[in-house]
Amino acid sequence: MTTNSGLRSRQWFGATGRAGMGHRSWMRSQGFTPEVFDGRPVIGIATTWSELAPCNVHLHRVAESVKRGVWQAGGFPLEFPAMALGETLLRPTAMLYRNLLAMEAEELMRANPLDGVVLLSGCDKTTPGLLMAAASVDLPAVMVTGGPMLSGKYQGTDVGSGTAVWRFEEDLVAGRMTQEECAFAEGCMARSNGHCMTMGTASTMASMAEALGMQLPYSATWPAVDARRYETAQRAGQVIVGLVQQDLRPSAVMTRAAFENAIRVNAAIGGSTNAVIHLLAIAGRLGVPLTLDDFDVLARDVPTLVNLQPSGKYLMEDFCYAGGLPAVIRELDEAGLLHSGALTVTGAGIGANVAGAPCWNREVIQTVADPFQPAGTGTAVLRGNLAPDGAVIKQSASSPHLLKHRGRALVFDSPTDYYAVSNDPELDVDEDTVLVIRYCGPRGYPGMPEVSNVALPKKLLLRGVRDMVRICDGRMSGTAYGTVVLHVAPEAAAGGPLALVRTGDWITLDVPGRMLTLEVADDELARRRAGWQPPAPPASRGWTRLYTERVLQADAGADLDFLVGASGHEVPRDSH
Ligand code: FES
Repeated sequence: MTTNSGLRSRQWFGATGRAGMGHRSWMRSQGFTPEVFDGRPVIGIATTWSELAPCNVHLHRVAESVKRGVWQAGGFPLEFPAMALGETLLRPTAMLYRNLLAMEAEELMRANPLDGVVLLSGCDKTTPGLLMAAASVDLPAVMVTGGPMLSGKYQGTDVGSGTAVWRFEEDLVAGRMTQEECAFAEGCMARSNGHCMTMGTASTMASMAEALGMQLPYSATWPAVDARRYETAQRAGQVIVGLVQQDLRPSAVMTRAAFENAIRVNAAIGGSTNAVIHLLAIAGRLGVPLTLDDFDVLARDVPTLVNLQPSGKYLMEDFCYAGGLPAVIRELDEAGLLHSGALTVTGAGIGANVAGAPCWNREVIQTVADPFQPAGTGTAVLRGNLAPDGAVIKQSASSPHLLKHRGRALVFDSPTDYYAVSNDPELDVDEDTVLVIRYCGPRGYPGMPEVSNVALPKKLLLRGVRDMVRICDGRMSGTAYGTVVLHVAPEAAAGGPLALVRTGDWITLDVPGRMLTLEVADDELARRRAGWQPPAPPASRGWTRLYTERVLQADAGADLDFLVGASGHEVPRDSH
């Protein structure tokens, strides 16, 4: 670490003449006294607050705590908005806009007189989007995620956001629940500020930010409404000023060792498969070599320690009270499964951060010696002639009896096509059928939505069947469960073999062998390929056109090809 004696904000606020006068004078219109231009670090607070992103709606209050910390440490805080992505409202999927948030935030950080940034995120895509931006600008940065909601409570039991919705829907279709009960349950599930409180994608990515070393210990798990979240935010405001003074940048924190730690932590918490795509994209911005296969290799010897929905029983509030993420990281460290020297935004190694971190509830956070699920039950990477560039499956959310399975394909070109017939009692389907849902990848849908875990056909639900094998080139919500093969690459819209499957073909899934095989001869596949036509582009203009023309496949993180890498923070020209 070196001491940062030449703050970039001085190029603006330290300037003489007309330019400097303009930079300072208009800022003073907000009522700042001239001392704020005395050479102190200028800290941007990138907030993804919006009433259209309910999981992030409290971030304006979190920002106030960050500002307190920045002022305390002698910095000058300036809050600015970055694109808020609300998972539950955005059409066709928030994932279509993750790269747009990353691009917008990157440009704002670079173009403004900032010396460091605090990143405020919460809902699924806002965390990776801001980390991708910070990686490409490489100014000192600290993340503060907004924290999970309080546990949902319905009819005397805990209900987890997202996870319960899938169950309620199935219960409604099967007649086990009424429409009125469902409407009442809506209000019981989301009863405070915060993001989903299962180990869904938001909780997973908050944990990834902490495991990568980019947010302070315990930051991922304090509930959104807990006073300690606001304390942590204030502390982050103090910390960022120190990071600027030390010139400690994301590229020094998010190293290959940090990504390996994150992958292992993801396995230990039973985290979302979406972490695979997002970590690949963040690593791509930093030039850190990371591949899909790293996720399989690194996670194989890590047991799942945390008993949280959707793989287990408890919720994020329980996880927090049991000791939070530091208790898990400490377990991994003591088992030799952590690069404990990986530097974090505290200025110390991650192992030092969690040394002595207590666990208060061994039902929620189990040990490596007595884990919740044994090693080798995390996210597996599959390959084969149906997924030459890979696919993933979350074993802990799957049914053990389906992890080795052979069945006939029933193929649909969209979830809409499937749902149009899924309630038909005459649908030719049984529990051995393999449902194939395609054209749901980055280019195809577009945006790679979370549609892969389609609800089971009503005919099977009424017979008590609760799971079947599904294969898709889309994603699955981190709150969801089921034996679902995801992220098939290349996707159907890019001409992947998934586009060539026909109803009635035999498919073999062999998760222990890491294989996904379409039992169709190569010459027959070649004949089918000759007759295949790519789908028409989904848009002729705007962001969707740019996205679909330049997006990479899932195995490369679904970033835009020209956004991979970093541009740094230099801007050679003055503002005019
Ligand atoms: Fe925002 Fe789940 S919908 S985190």
